[in-house]
Amino acid sequence: MQTKIVFICLGNICRSPMAEFMFKDMLDKSGYKAIISSRATSDWEIGNPVYPPAKKLLEEKGVDCSLKRAEKLTKKDCDEADYLIVMDENNLRDTRAIAGKENYEKVKMLLSYTENPRGIADPWYTRDFDLTYRDLTAGLKAFEDYLVKEGKL
Ligand code: 4NP
Repeated sequence: MQTKIVFICLGNICRSPMAEFMFKDMLDKSGYKAIISSRATSDWEIGNPVYPPAKKLLEEKGVDCSLKRAEKLTKKDCDEADYLIVMDENNLRDTRAIAGKENYEKVKMLLSYTENPRGIADPWYTRDFDLTYRDLTAGLKAFEDYLVKEGKL
């Protein structure tokens, strides 16, 4: 059984789809397999493609996310996942509310796997997509190392 991972942010048009497609690319290159998706805690952007500056940045890195459309996180998603990986403290609170107590331990902040645990700032507001990319790269690498150590990949 492959490990099932859902990346989660507020809108599912910037941080979490970037994480989804960057992690798929990272695992492809490492030769690992997992089931990876991304979801929103809000319904604000449901059905919308990845936000153009985020999409453009990924394209420049050779990562295609053109088919992605934003989807809202459901309780079923949470029940079926092994890891619910969020971007910031607000996502942590909102995801735990959707996931329920029984899924509480599945919910982790991405940068909690690094030596400098913190939230990933929302580029929708900061406009700093390069910083988002750098934070995601560090977090995803640390998360991959953790999963390998745990025997989950
Ligand atoms: P994300 O960014 O949570 O990284 O996808 C946002 C996208 C849209 C909005 C907020 C954050 N919004 O207010 O619509």
